[in-house]
Amino acid sequence: MEKILIIDFGSQVTQLIGRRLRELNVYCEIHPFNKFPEIDPDVKGVVLSGSPCSVRDENAPQVNLEGIKGKLPILGICYGAQYLAHKFGGSVNASLAREYGRAILEVTSPDSPLLLGVSPKSQVWMSHGDTIASLPDGAEVIASTADVVNAAYSIKGEPTYAVQFHPEVFHTTEGMRMLSNFALGICGCAGDWTPDSFIETAVKEIREKVGDDKVILGLSGGVDSTVAGVLLNRAIGHNLTCIFVNNGLLRKNEFEDVLESYKDMGLNVIGADASADFLRELSGVTEPEKKRKIIGRLFVETFDRYARKIENARWLAQGTIYPDVIESAGINGTASKIKSHHNVGGLPEEMNLGIVEPLRSLFKDEVRRVGRALGIRDELIGRHPFPGPSLGIRILGDVTEEKLAVLREADDIFIRGLRNYSLDGNRAAIEALAGPGASFVRSASDPTMKAHNLYDAIWQAGVILLPVKSVGVMGDERTYESTVALRAVISTDGMTADWVHLPYDFLADVSNEIINKVRGVNRVCYDVSSKPPATIEWE
Ligand code: XMP
Repeated sequence: MEKILIIDFGSQVTQLIGRRLRELNVYCEIHPFNKFPEIDPDVKGVVLSGSPCSVRDENAPQVNLEGIKGKLPILGICYGAQYLAHKFGGSVNASLAREYGRAILEVTSPDSPLLLGVSPKSQVWMSHGDTIASLPDGAEVIASTADVVNAAYSIKGEPTYAVQFHPEVFHTTEGMRMLSNFALGICGCAGDWTPDSFIETAVKEIREKVGDDKVILGLSGGVDSTVAGVLLNRAIGHNLTCIFVNNGLLRKNEFEDVLESYKDMGLNVIGADASADFLRELSGVTEPEKKRKIIGRLFVETFDRYARKIENARWLAQGTIYPDVIESAGINGTASKIKSHHNVGGLPEEMNLGIVEPLRSLFKDEVRRVGRALGIRDELIGRHPFPGPSLGIRILGDVTEEKLAVLREADDIFIRGLRNYSLDGNRAAIEALAGPGASFVRSASDPTMKAHNLYDAIWQAGVILLPVKSVGVMGDERTYESTVALRAVISTDGMTADWVHLPYDFLADVSNEIINKVRGVNRVCYDVSSKPPATIEWE
């Protein structure tokens, strides 16, 4: 499969380069500069990313370009452009002119393969403290800005290109054209990496890997595990057994509904109901971390108990996706972040299972596209994230059956309300949800999501039951009952988030319905905290 490799020097926006190339239906992989893989014949080109470092630093990130430069197409971006200059006969200095933010790029070589079809003047986004004072050997300028003469250059007789600005960011208005010129033109990629081609390749690879062995998968009702399940099912049919654990902390009717929809999709699913165990062990526990630990441990024990019943299981499948596995190149040259799935703890080692992760190469929106191509219903594809510890961390303090019943009803009213509030076609209403200055609602950050209603437009929502009682009046009677908080956020990855500017009329309806219908609640609040400094969940 043809691909482009992205060498990550630690820039904040390296992932975006990957996203953009994938939008062109070109498969690409991001690798930290200090763990760069062998170049095989499938590699059609290499992108050098930006970095928070200066090439003039003693410990500046380095990469060996021997065997690549002059032979394969290269695109240096920001630090990548400076690195090419610094290494191959040019020079880089600290910049005197301000080189942050908007600039107007003037194309001086309209025939350059990188700039074909780019307007003579267009907006680009600069973000660097260093500047390229002189070009590397054999290079010529192909575009400049008022402050930066060497804003883009190419090396004569080589498919080597470099840009001082960031073509991958939204503010570089013709950046996609440049990336497309590079990937489809200069590298000659076919641009045929689509959900269908992904599915075809993945099915083949799964069959080759697991053969006639049995595979186990933990389903959560979430998008990733569902898509992984349907994909594996297509590849190996009933050699796949899925386990869906009921921890007793799920939303109203969730266990039954999700189980039912999995059966409709032809998946072989075991519903593992361990509600009683979870509630028993959580009884009287109020400390959040302790609650989380108990829930995590019981999940693994339950999964393990059911998994052991599946004879001859050799593989454990997981819904790991690309952002979980990308190693970012840290500033000091060490990999700074590796997330992994801990859902099933030490199970693979103990049971001697191999790991299958068919979605490892996909970003979240690509998982959704693949899911749609597999025929999974929109309702499942568009589900909000939901934490593993479930409602257990949305009941502050100790968890009881009674509190769960109250929270389930209030949560159901809120979520149904979000789904029923139509936004179809109302751009102004959708944009208003993000508040002034915030640019993203879910449908904007993920082009596969259409905002039919409030639910679709936002990242995540839920209700929190507070350990607070307050006085109210209902009819002629004084009440002394619980308070719930509504939480709704927009986000692109859950790492940062902002509260949603939900319409007042909507909040009023939800509040009325909760107070009128849910026994035990007489007050509804709306959480207007962003992350940071708050978090999305309250515990
Ligand atoms: P916080 O509360 O840290 O949440 O802002 C960020 C995102 O992660 C989800 N979350 C979890 N997901 N297991 C999960 O699978 C967990 O223990 C967990 N805790 C938080 C949260 O719902 C939000 O989407």
